[in-house]
Amino acid sequence: MRHLLGIRGMSPEEALGILDEAPRYQDVANQPVPRVPILVGRTVTHLFMEPSTRTQASFQLAAKRLSAEPLSFVPKSSSLNKGETFLDTARTLASMAPDIVVVRSGESGAPHVLAREIPTAQVINAGDGISEHPTQALLDAFTIRKHLGRIAGVRVTIIGDLLHSRVFRSNAHLLTMLGAEVRCCGPPTLLPPGLDRLGVRPLLHLEEALEGAEAVMVLRIQHERMHASVIPSEREYYREFGLTMERLALTEGAIVLHPGPLNRGVEISSEVADGPQSVILDQVRNGVAVRMAVLAEIARSSPRSRSGREGADG
Ligand code: CP
Repeated sequence: MRHLLGIRGMSPEEALGILDEAPRYQDVANQPVPRVPILVGRTVTHLFMEPSTRTQASFQLAAKRLSAEPLSFVPKSSSLNKGETFLDTARTLASMAPDIVVVRSGESGAPHVLAREIPTAQVINAGDGISEHPTQALLDAFTIRKHLGRIAGVRVTIIGDLLHSRVFRSNAHLLTMLGAEVRCCGPPTLLPPGLDRLGVRPLLHLEEALEGAEAVMVLRIQHERMHASVIPSEREYYREFGLTMERLALTEGAIVLHPGPLNRGVEISSEVADGPQSVILDQVRNGVAVRMAVLAEIARSSPRSRSGREGADG
């Protein structure tokens, strides 16, 4: 794995390799010491050009736990704020020869541009536009397997604004590739075309989509990516698609996932979000270990490791 640009392009073996490796890091992930010396002497640049709480914090922790030299790039205080283009910023970064660049961008395809423009760096996609959010899907799959013991054959229902969701796209690729049965439901205006090609079954009625589900993934409405005219009112949305305790009772005692940030009373009730079937905070905890496994795997495939100048284990 030279880069992690998306789940599309990953093999089932590569994805399972990350999921199998992550438990190794779970003890270290949530404690400050001891660190693991896998990224000693390597710079991990965090280039976050869109807001993020969970992904940014957990990549920073993961890099620190692996002994990297972290470099944070804050767009507001960078030259991007003075009119410099993304491409020029990428070329500027390239001249400093970073080892690993973790990028979050509102533009679909930005990580691919970086991978092309910074030939020395390995690029990890931390969410690009409406395209992909591969590490979120990996931590979601990890969480499902941790709680249900398997992914193949698990009935997963994904509810929400699927059209604008990179989390949905990455999860659809990953969960179907690993043999899960994925159903989805949302307002017809927010369902993307080509769901059949993704191997996902769209259902118009939430009750039908929830029946027999073992895992339910709730996604928020991405107001920032759409025109006001296609957004249902919050009250309307909650009435039709909000996950309440009553609706959750239609499932097979399903675990409830949400990538965050949550909009309580819009896509999910507080009773569900804070209830016994919710694994939302466990997703966040698992995110650090999964991202450590991704960084370690990327380091192993680094040209520096391959040339023998430096072993991936430090
Ligand atoms: N899940 C996720 O991407 O959350 P953040 O936007 O807070 O990183």
